[in-house]
Amino acid sequence: MTTTTVPEFQHRTVLLDEAVDALALDGARANGVFVDGTFGRGGHSRLILSRLGPKARLIAFDKDPQAIATAEQINDPRLTIVHDSFATMREALAERGVNQVDGILLDLGISSPQVDDAARGFSFRNDGPLDMRMDTTRGMSAAEWLATENEQTLEKVIKEYGEERFAFQIAKAIVARRAVEPISTTRQLAGIVAGAVKTREKGKDPATRTFQAIRIFVNKELEDLEVGLNHAYDSLAPGAIIAIISFHSLEDRMVKRFFASKANVEQPDRRLPIRAVDLPQPELKLLSKMKPSEREIDENPRARSAVMRVARRLPVPEGA
Ligand SMILES: C[S@@+](CC[C@H](N)C(=O)[O-])C[C@H]1O[C@@H](n2cnc3c(N)ncnc32)[C@H](O)[C@@H]1O
Repeated sequence: MTTTTVPEFQHRTVLLDEAVDALALDGARANGVFVDGTFGRGGHSRLILSRLGPKARLIAFDKDPQAIATAEQINDPRLTIVHDSFATMREALAERGVNQVDGILLDLGISSPQVDDAARGFSFRNDGPLDMRMDTTRGMSAAEWLATENEQTLEKVIKEYGEERFAFQIAKAIVARRAVEPISTTRQLAGIVAGAVKTREKGKDPATRTFQAIRIFVNKELEDLEVGLNHAYDSLAPGAIIAIISFHSLEDRMVKRFFASKANVEQPDRRLPIRAVDLPQPELKLLSKMKPSEREIDENPRARSAVMRVARRLPVPEGA
């Protein structure tokens, strides 16, 4: 048991029914083994558990100690909790006696409690220490990174992960300011960015892109997704389903490409003397791509950028 205290911030689960429906927890699958790679506050996990049979298992991952403390409050012998990245899935499952699973859900990015709690340092709206780590037990905070990184890398990260046009000006302003005083709060950083961004996007704070970029970098979100996709794929039993909810185009592009690389295999020249069983076979079947309904977006504006992609692991053909 951890002694982490969990402040009272709520997370409104995005695509709750749609994601759990996608895992098709019926028939024999109801007593299978499932993974929730991003427990958060457990919205998806609780619904999954409510639909699973008595012999099922749900293995839930999260990097965030507060998410883990929340998971530990669920008294259900079918639930196993892992305080680590889903990028460790293969080994984490093997250590718990699991080699293959029947379904995996990843609901990527940050949870509302992480953004809403000023003390976590993710928000440019509420002043707090510039931390931005999902896993507050390890790694470098945003403040530590901004204090030490060279200007070119700052610019590259802000440009690539934030898709920010003014990355050059922002990186320069950060380096100039840190020579005068440490940049240690979210308000300071938001002010520096606002001074460097020369135009305004309608309805968007000028710091949005930079905060997104730094958060993605500090938490190694894209590296984890790259590794995690492979771990997840290797862990899928034939017929297993994988559902991934992304919240920005960098993530969704990676998921889309990964799924396509397993689903669309190039066939060799048909005139070549190759036996049918030796022809490359697709390993995933793409099942659906879905966005939240207008109604869900009205009720929960944070759902507006979500995209869910679902695929099924195909069985290896006989004789292959
Ligand atoms: C959008 S929230 C998930 C919300 C959850 N589905 C719910 O209904 O409460 C994303 C969560 O994933 C966690 N997370 C993000 N990347 C992770 C990773 N690579 N490994 C484990 N957890 C991760 C975050 O700490 C956060 O708690």
